[in-house]
Amino acid sequence: MSGPLLELRSVSRRFGGLLALSEVSFQVQAGELVGVIGPNGAGKSTLFNAIVQLIPPSSGQVLYQGRDITGWPVNRVVASGITKTSQMVQVFGEMTVLENVLIGALLHQRRLDLARRQAIEDLEFIGLAPRAELPARDLTLADRARLELARALAVRPRLLMIDEVMAGLTEAEVGEMLDRLRAMNRERGITLLVIEHNMRAVMEVSQRVLAFEQGRLIADGDPSSVSRDPQVVEAYLGMG
Ligand SMILES: Nc1ncnc2c1ncn2[C@@H]1O[C@H](COP(=O)(O)OP(=O)(O)OP(=O)(O)O)[C@@H](O)[C@H]1O
Ligand SMILES: [Mg+2]
Repeated sequence: MSGPLLELRSVSRRFGGLLALSEVSFQVQAGELVGVIGPNGAGKSTLFNAIVQLIPPSSGQVLYQGRDITGWPVNRVVASGITKTSQMVQVFGEMTVLENVLIGALLHQRRLDLARRQAIEDLEFIGLAPRAELPARDLTLADRARLELARALAVRPRLLMIDEVMAGLTEAEVGEMLDRLRAMNRERGITLLVIEHNMRAVMEVSQRVLAFEQGRLIADGDPSSVSRDPQVVEAYLGMG
């Protein structure tokens, strides 16, 4: 397939009088690892929600593999290959780590034995296999972040959007998460959009960075040029 994997055409989203996304347009090619930055309230999570159609755009179009998916039910979007993790880590605490991952695998694999085998492979890939039988609520913060990745991986997305999965982790834990993201991108061929407040992390891992402020896309380019962009510098200084 030629053409971009994902394309936004002038996407806006209103909440009452607030324009949370304002005429946002960009393309993502298959295989890219793209960082998404911006101050609190810039519209980053709303962007992901608008792409997956959890919060459909008020206007504009979202195209995936050349098809207009605007207004599709979320389950149809997910079945077509787009998955996102949520900002608040939402594991099912009573269930084991393996069961949490199995839920994702069962979305596309009806045979329980095959789904289970796949879930175990995904846990091994993420480095969580030793905790497979623990209740998810007993995990450390870093292991919960790993579980978020394993659950998303189990859905077998082509495009995975990760919303601040590294919040609160130590530098060493962040480094390990970045290795996992790179592996998902390179070894599994997953196109990644990654929202992250840790600037050092996002600049290190991203091939390209999109910067948002007040719902507008203010910069789109390689990490070093975006980090030096006057509007981006201003947006971050303005945070106080
Ligand atoms: N469901 C909603 N209803 C009303 N307003 C919303 C809703 N979701 C987001 N907003 C508002 O839209 C704006 C953008 O919010 P969003 O959560 O997308 O920002 P963000 O960039 O993800 O911020 P953060 O870095 O704090 O996670 C904010 O002003 C927020 O209060
Ligand atoms: Mg957010």
